[in-house]
Amino acid sequence: MENFEFVSPTHFVFGRAAEEQIGQKLAAAGATKALVHFGGKSAKASGLLDRVCAALDAAGIAYVELGGVRPNPEITLVRHGVDLCKRENVDWIVAVGGGSVIDSAKAIANGACIEEDVWTLFESKATGHPTLPIAVVLTIPAAGSEASKNVVISNDALGRKTGYANNDHRPKFAFMNPELTFTLPPFQTAAGITDMYAHLLERFFDDVEAVPVTDNLNLSLMKTVRAEAPRVLADPENYDARANIMWAGMLCHQGLAGVGRHEDWATHALEHELSALNPTITHGAGLAVLFPAWMEYVCGENPARFAYYGAQVFGLAPTGDVMADAFSAIDETRSFFASLGMPTALAELGICEEDIERMIPTLQANKGAIFGSFKKLSMDDARAIYRRAL
Ligand code: NZQ
Ligand code: ZN
Repeated sequence: MENFEFVSPTHFVFGRAAEEQIGQKLAAAGATKALVHFGGKSAKASGLLDRVCAALDAAGIAYVELGGVRPNPEITLVRHGVDLCKRENVDWIVAVGGGSVIDSAKAIANGACIEEDVWTLFESKATGHPTLPIAVVLTIPAAGSEASKNVVISNDALGRKTGYANNDHRPKFAFMNPELTFTLPPFQTAAGITDMYAHLLERFFDDVEAVPVTDNLNLSLMKTVRAEAPRVLADPENYDARANIMWAGMLCHQGLAGVGRHEDWATHALEHELSALNPTITHGAGLAVLFPAWMEYVCGENPARFAYYGAQVFGLAPTGDVMADAFSAIDETRSFFASLGMPTALAELGICEEDIERMIPTLQANKGAIFGSFKKLSMDDARAIYRRAL
């Protein structure tokens, strides 16, 4: 088991009507003025935003609002948020939404506490400065940003999408009411499930030998996500299925499912280039295409690990040919994503052969010349994986 540090400061309030507690909890934590940050339309349309604002009003917490966060959130709105927080002396950020809103909130929380332009943090990956505390009202289980140390932001002018990790911007509160996810369109539900499952794969496949305490937790989450996925898709208002998926989404990415391992994250790096090139590409959909392609490309490094994964998660019986077993596990993974309605080829996302060379320079700028852990990948390896996924 590798050495690790693990910090998880998030106070979770989970269940029906969880969001109603936001006023009293934030007041007790000393909040006096919040930035209420939200996305395009869902939080307004459902009435959730009004309920959150009413809860803040009732607790005597003043607030300013900033909506309009798009999926694959962009730095321009972050800069507006930073200016607003500085001008209005905001002392808490309330993110109402999913990974995009939460990541935009994290970037604002950092930018509001430094003199320099907030994008400099995405270049330097600097930590150690103060950040504003964040509370999340989660509306889509997917990215796991409600408890993660990561933030990912796009910069359209530079054609970049990149992130970094900072334990200090992990949210202080996450209000998680599964009923808020009943309104998710099937595609977003499925993309979210793909993303959380991918967060487990990124942690399971690396260059560290078995770490049973971590691996068994990870495998248990994989099995749970697989079992609950068809239930939420068939019955979107099934509270228990939604609740299991929502809590799993957090556990998949808050960190415990990878402690003691190096973790890989090559496929996420490859995917972020897709959404940098075309911000309308949904993160989970890109991962659904790229993960099986990455798996096929790298599994020769340690086919036994893939065979073990196939046996544990899909119940595949060993055939005596470990490479064949590894490929069966990869086929099952691809079929699982396809069964959710996810794409299976980059062409379905509008990505073609010529796009590959457009993505390589920014990939290298973000990750360096060599990246990944299960197999160390060069830019030529990245090209080969993209080609395999076309
Ligand atoms: O903008 P609105 O109208 O709210 O619509 C959103 C959006 O279009 C909609 N939605 C959210 N909750 C809804 C709803 N629609 C109906 N009912 C609801 N209850 O869903 C769409 C997607 O939302 P988004 O926040 O983009 O989804 P997700 O949580 O998948 O976040 C994706 C972003 O997170 C980043 C991704 O790269 C991407 O930018 N990630 C962040 C991570 C982190 N910070 O730890 C890790 C991940 O690997 C990921 O990279
Ligand atoms: Zn992800």
